[in-house]
Amino acid sequence: METKRVLRHLRGLFTPDPNEPWRTDRIEGAAVALQGGRIAWIGAERDLPSEWTGAEVIDGQGRWATPGFVDPHTHLVFGGDRSQEFNRRLHGVSYAQLAAEGGGIRETVRATRQATVEELVAVGEERLQKLTRKGVVHLEAKTGYGLELEAESRLLEAYAILKSQGWSLDVTLMPAHDLPQEFADHADEYIRLVADQWQPELVRRFPGVARFVDVFVEKGVFTVEQGRRIIESGKALGLTPRLHADEFVHTGGAELAAEVGAASADHLMFCSDEGMKAMAQAGVTPILLPGTTLFLGMRDFAPARRMIEAGCRVALASDFNPGSCACLDPLLILRLGCLQLRMTFEEAFTAMTLHAARSLGHDDLGHLHPGAQARIALWDVNHPLELVYWMGESYEPRMVK
Ligand code: NIG
Ligand code: FE
Repeated sequence: METKRVLRHLRGLFTPDPNEPWRTDRIEGAAVALQGGRIAWIGAERDLPSEWTGAEVIDGQGRWATPGFVDPHTHLVFGGDRSQEFNRRLHGVSYAQLAAEGGGIRETVRATRQATVEELVAVGEERLQKLTRKGVVHLEAKTGYGLELEAESRLLEAYAILKSQGWSLDVTLMPAHDLPQEFADHADEYIRLVADQWQPELVRRFPGVARFVDVFVEKGVFTVEQGRRIIESGKALGLTPRLHADEFVHTGGAELAAEVGAASADHLMFCSDEGMKAMAQAGVTPILLPGTTLFLGMRDFAPARRMIEAGCRVALASDFNPGSCACLDPLLILRLGCLQLRMTFEEAFTAMTLHAARSLGHDDLGHLHPGAQARIALWDVNHPLELVYWMGESYEPRMVK
C-alpha cells in the first residue's frame, strides 16, 4: 500500500475542472489527499474524510495550491543564440528580411549542426531546470534546427537522453521546420526526402521517442499541400500531427489541422472564422503563443476571444526558441494571455494547464481533481490572481509531488 499523505494548512486551492471546458474550482482553506503519486481527494480541510486524519502531513505553509503549468509548444534544444540578430531587429530589420538573407532559423541551424549530442543535452537540461523552477511540470519539445538527417537525429537522441533522465516531455519531429539552404528553390524535393526517408529513419532509430509530427505551413515556407505530405508520412509512422499555422498570413493552416485530425494548430494570429469553426468541430486545440507576437514586435495578437466563442478549447504556450520568443517564463505567457489576448485569469490559467495537457493527450495533468498526477505548485500569494496582477514579480512556486 502506497503511503497516504495530506497537504494541509493551505490558504486555498485553485484548479480547472476537467469535466467542463472552462470551469474552475476555488476552495478556501483546502486540503489535498495524495496516494501513489496521485490526487485522491480535494476539499475544505474541515471536511477531510476520517480515513485521512492519521496520514503523513505536508505543510502547505498558508500557500495557494494549483496544478503545475504544462507548456505544449517549445523548441527546447538548439545550439547558439540569436542575440545579434535580435539587435538588428531592434534597429528596424524585419524577421522576414533576416530570414530572406539566410539568417533566422538557418542561423540557428548552422550552430545546431555543430553541436554534439552532449552539448545539446546540456543546454536542454539547463533550460528544463529553469522552467521547472518556475512551475512547469511537463512540456512538448520539437526537433527542427538540424534540417539534415544526422543533425535531426542528434536532436532526437538528445531528447531521448533527457527523457531517460526522467524529464517529463513529449517529443515532436519537425525536420520540415524550414527549407535548408542546400535545398533553396527545391522545396518539393526536400519535402519528399523528409516524408519518404528521414521521418521513417528517425522513428526507426529512436522507436517510441517522438509522439508527434509538426510542419511550418506559411507563406514563403511550406504550402498546405507540402504540409499535408509531411503529416501523412508522420501519421503512417504512428505520430499525431501538430501544426505551425497562420502565423504571418492566412494560409489555411487551421483548416488543414482540422482536416487531418491534428492535436493542435499553433500561432494562428491570422486564423479565419472558418478555421476556428473547423477546429472547434474537429477537436483541434488552438495553441496561442502571445510571447512570440510580443517578441516579434507585432500588434496582431491571436483572436483568442473569437476562438473561445467559436467553441475552441484554447491553450497557451511559450514557443520558446532563439528567434521569435527567447522566453522561459510561464508567468509572462499567462500575463500576456490576460493582458493582450483578453482572456480572463481563469481562462488563461486553464489554457496553460488543462487545455495544454489535453492537447498532448494527458488527461491526468493540468488539474487537481482525483486521479490527476500529484504535481502541485504552491504559490506564496494571497490569491492566485496576484500572479498576473503583480506584473513584474518573478514568483517561484514550491512543488509537491
Ligand atoms: O514557432 N514559426 C516557426 N518557428 C519558430 C521560430 C523559429 C526561429 O525563429 O528560430 C516559431 O516561432
Ligand atoms: Fe514554434
